[in-house]
Amino acid sequence: MCSISPMGQLKVSRRFPGVKELAGLMRFRKPILNGRKRRLSRALTIYDLRDIAKRRTPKAPFDYTDGGADTESSLTRARQTFENIEFQPRILRDVSIVDTSVTMLGKTMAMPIGIAPTGFTRMMQTEGEYAGATAARDAGIPYTLSTMGTRSIEDVAKIAPDGRNWFQLYMWKDRDRSMALVERAKAAGFDTLVLTVDVPVAGARLRDVRNGMTIPPSLTSKTILNAIPRPAWWMNFLTTDPLKFASLDSWKGTVAELLDSMFDPTVTFEDLNWIRGQWDGNLVVKGIQNVEDAVLAQKAGADAITLSNHGGRQLDRAPVPYLLIPEVRKAVGEKFEIHVDTGIMHGADVVAAIAAGANFTWIGRAYLYGLMAGGKEGVDRSLEILRTQMVRTMKLLGARSLAELNPSHIKQITR
Ligand SMILES: Cc1cc2nc3c(=O)[nH]c(=O)nc-3n(C[C@H](O)[C@H](O)[C@H](O)COP(=O)(O)O)c2cc1C
Repeated sequence: MCSISPMGQLKVSRRFPGVKELAGLMRFRKPILNGRKRRLSRALTIYDLRDIAKRRTPKAPFDYTDGGADTESSLTRARQTFENIEFQPRILRDVSIVDTSVTMLGKTMAMPIGIAPTGFTRMMQTEGEYAGATAARDAGIPYTLSTMGTRSIEDVAKIAPDGRNWFQLYMWKDRDRSMALVERAKAAGFDTLVLTVDVPVAGARLRDVRNGMTIPPSLTSKTILNAIPRPAWWMNFLTTDPLKFASLDSWKGTVAELLDSMFDPTVTFEDLNWIRGQWDGNLVVKGIQNVEDAVLAQKAGADAITLSNHGGRQLDRAPVPYLLIPEVRKAVGEKFEIHVDTGIMHGADVVAAIAAGANFTWIGRAYLYGLMAGGKEGVDRSLEILRTQMVRTMKLLGARSLAELNPSHIKQITR
């Protein structure tokens, strides 16, 4: 109740609240006793997961994951481009049900997001490839095992036999050894080979050089000091299987030395034709960065291409893959599958890529931050965050399915 005093002031009359009334207002949440679950439940965005990951992972492996080449502009620009999208929403459509499923290379996936190949994944967090493969299976999306994986093809097939597992190949100087891996992937039931073509030489990953990053991580006074606030990571590292490349011979040295000694800078489109002849499953060429190469890969018999600058880890100042989509779509036609990665940190980024004309997207860091924040459950969380963001964005855009998304939903603003 209010009254007006003789001086013309508004007076609010007060009362004592009843106990019952107070009790009705109390909403104490049940504490989550499991530390991992508690941490992850607080993460609402991929950047939140990144913050947790940074706190829990030693500097060298965190920077190896987080960083890019040289000035890191290829990654920064890709993320910035997604942020500079202005959506053009449509209203008054019934969006009570939104379908995020998509048919990609012959199979239906729950959403247009897959886990991209990432090397040395057990170094980020001990559950590594197993976490990625099982989280992808549970979410109904594909998982790609890297040539530089820390679990073997057979072990990944065993942990997620009902998942859609793909194998990523780097062409080695020794072709027979490359093809032996391809044979193993085929025998293990992997339905797709991803040929990565943007590593004729290792990118200049300056953070790794500055951190003195080696594989496996070495114990120096600097790393030991950095380990003190991150005991869980070190406990995992020291008490689980030794870290090694499961598909390669053991290696002691820097990542750049490893890449340079193994990978073949002489690979050409001839080799792509040759691989096409060897592999009868789906072939995806990953690392395409212009229209002409997209068309050449299509002519060489690729089933799909991935527009990618390797998450900004190779060439600095590289094209932003997302921006290539419209022109590449025009050149390869409506039926050919275009996949895209680099810079995806939000479900809305995925929605924009599909609206621009891509069929599918891939994530590297977005899942690795989840992994470092909380193993398999962390990857589950990152996929759940992206899915929730996608669904909300689609509803707000008035799109009930991916097929309803089109270029009229997006505009690029310049800053
Ligand atoms: C730590 C790390 C390791 C990677 N290792 C590989 C690899 O072994 N093979 C490959 O083709 N791409 C590799 N990539 C690139 C990813 O497959 C993908 O193209 C990239 O991460 C996409 O960018 P995003 O991290 O912004 O999502 C790696 C990326 C990261 C972050």
